[in-house]
Amino acid sequence: MIEVSALTVRFKTKTGYFDAVRDATFHVGEGEVFGIVGESGSGKSTILRALTGLAPAASGTMKTGAHASAEKAKAGRAFRRDVQMVFQDPYGSLHPRFTVDQTLREPLAINGIDRQDERIVAALLEVGLGAAFRFRYPHQLSGGQRQRVAIARALIVEPRVLLLDEPTSALDVSVQAEILNLLRRLHRERNLTMILVSHNLAVIGFLCSRVAVMRNGEIVEELGIEAIRAQQVDNDYTRSLLLATGGYQRKAVEAIGMDAAL
Ligand SMILES: Nc1ncnc2c1ncn2[C@@H]1O[C@H](COP(=O)(O)OP(=O)(O)O)[C@@H](O)[C@H]1O
Ligand SMILES: [Mg+2]
Repeated sequence: MIEVSALTVRFKTKTGYFDAVRDATFHVGEGEVFGIVGESGSGKSTILRALTGLAPAASGTMKTGAHASAEKAKAGRAFRRDVQMVFQDPYGSLHPRFTVDQTLREPLAINGIDRQDERIVAALLEVGLGAAFRFRYPHQLSGGQRQRVAIARALIVEPRVLLLDEPTSALDVSVQAEILNLLRRLHRERNLTMILVSHNLAVIGFLCSRVAVMRNGEIVEELGIEAIRAQQVDNDYTRSLLLATGGYQRKAVEAIGMDAAL
């Protein structure tokens, strides 16, 4: 469903250029949840942004669903609809002067989708918010409720791919668990293909089957989730990430309060 091959993302800087991602290669199968983990500044968000066309690919190829990156301009609206993204900061990602209803209606209008009222109510119910939330503004919502709205906005156009950039990092621990459980349910119900970026390996282990470990713009290791759970990692850097986040021990998962279906 997603194929990224030798992707390099280059930004212009005052002194020349900077490669935020270098030679990254990975694939994600249909219905799979793929994790990307790494310390801050390692290029995780840049990979997701490149996949949605928000960051410039200097070289390499990306293919999501039926659309190769070169055809993206042509695929246009269909491509943008197929691949949706949820950002870290639920305070910054919703328009402060839009009601929930307006926020959810906008992507429907852009994509020319009908039966909007019905879809808006259904989307709210799907993320665990009642129809009464429709006419609230972001400042009338908690962080977790905002992130549910952001997830509803992404899903309302029925994408095949959902990109999640640290979707729970800005939330309180107890709220994190609710959102992670919601994402797991949505993945199962919709057979979505997902990429989840996190710096927390317990979060990755809860949702993902495989994970790429990034450092300084490069993928330094790719692991099955069993290896993370068993803490069998070759790379010293990955081991340090495991230690930093409490590894993938039951304790770490329970601390977040996720459904421990392991
Ligand atoms: N638009 C940009 N221009 C220049 N540098 C950027 C830009 N966006 C990101 N970077 C740099 O690219 C690197 C990777 O950033 P990012 O992908 O956001 O890391 P992460 O999500 O892993 O924390 C950082 O050093 C960041 O400063
Ligand atoms: Mg980031």
